[in-house]
Amino acid sequence: MDKIVIKGGKKLCGEVNISTAKNSILPIIAASILSGDKCIIEDAPMLEDVFVISDVLRTIRTKIDIDNNTNRILIDTSNIKDCEASSDLVKKMRASFLIMGSMIARFGKFRLSLPGGCNIGTRPIDLHLKGFSALGAEVSVGHGYVEAQAKKLIGNKIYLDFPSVGATENIMMAATTAEGETIIENAAEEPEIEDLAKFLNCMGANIIGAGTGTIRIIGVNELKGTTHKPIYDRIEAGTFMTAAAITRSKIKINGINEGHLKPVIAKLTEAGVSIEIEGSSMIVDADKELKPIDIKTMPYPGFPTDMQSQMSGLLCSVHGTSIITETIFENRFMHATEMKRMGANIKIDGRSAVIEGVNKLTGAEVRATDLRAGAALILCGLIAEGETEVTDIYHVDRGYVNIEKKLHGLGADIERLKM
Ligand code: UD1
Repeated sequence: MDKIVIKGGKKLCGEVNISTAKNSILPIIAASILSGDKCIIEDAPMLEDVFVISDVLRTIRTKIDIDNNTNRILIDTSNIKDCEASSDLVKKMRASFLIMGSMIARFGKFRLSLPGGCNIGTRPIDLHLKGFSALGAEVSVGHGYVEAQAKKLIGNKIYLDFPSVGATENIMMAATTAEGETIIENAAEEPEIEDLAKFLNCMGANIIGAGTGTIRIIGVNELKGTTHKPIYDRIEAGTFMTAAAITRSKIKINGINEGHLKPVIAKLTEAGVSIEIEGSSMIVDADKELKPIDIKTMPYPGFPTDMQSQMSGLLCSVHGTSIITETIFENRFMHATEMKRMGANIKIDGRSAVIEGVNKLTGAEVRATDLRAGAALILCGLIAEGETEVTDIYHVDRGYVNIEKKLHGLGADIERLKM
């Protein structure tokens, strides 16, 4: 298993280019199942999660060509026969469940092994399944598997008890070819859902309101292949904004959408960071004393849970008391234990973390317990005295394209050790 080694203390400068979004491309690859034609994804992020979902599709006889040089992915689902994907792969990545909606829509059935718990929480899929049932599918769970079948899906009104991103996406995909109209109320509003709807509409679907709390899907007879470039990754952009903030540096970030980053911009500005937007680029200037802030994670457009660990790292370096409240996942403070090994002062009280800024962090061997925790530990390593080793880096590779190369390009003393 690779690890990343950082010698802290270097200021960052220069420019970094953001990749396209992991959370857009995963549902988009799953959605390509809906048509028997070819789909092409341009400028795809070359991430572990993308390789895993591609392998999941390959087990059901999809042909996927990933070109690392052009970042182009060609997906041909014309030969899919099986409706059961390899359980090992499905267990490896929760987002594999995003194929349920397309499978039930195109083939009238699917069978997948149930996800286990994951590091950041139990993460059930009850809302996905309730949605399929409301569309007329017979859903059963047993012996570690979830199965569903339907002769014909029929549009319905579906109210989500919680605006789940994955459930909204799965139901939206399932409803594209259902008879009549489906309305999803209390739908998740994340930009990646709007991006998925754009992809589906290019395939011939009729979806209105994606990106708002009410999504209307008018069923169509069939979908065709299309070409799409996903939106930029707002969490990767937020991570680099935080990298500038924690090192008190000034950098330029290319490939951003200001609207998608509003909550992160608001919180960093409140902490005293200057942010200037120039079209799809931003200049982040944190070369000054920062102030403590309080943050509460919320569904979009609230502050993203996927930026919580990185902000925790930043606030360890800011004098005063900051409080972070995590409302989306029940177990997303595992980075705190690792940050404490670097000298951080964090107390966890239920769903809140009370962070007292310290004068300095010290390099240590720490473990990436999940994707964003790993990114946050790398950020802490950028300012820690001495050497920080972040192990279990495969978590970080799930969602960041060449994070160490991008940080090295900004002047950080960072390298990957192949183990
Ligand atoms: C997606 C993102 C992930 C992000 C999360 C929240 C992808 C591939 N992943 O994950 O990066 O952290 O949104 O912004 O897009 N829940 C239920 N029942 C369900 C579904 C969800 O109780 O059927 C709960 C979950 O346990 C969790 C909360 O709802 O507490 C949010 O989960 P959800 O929005 O579904 O996240 P994902 O789609 O898994």
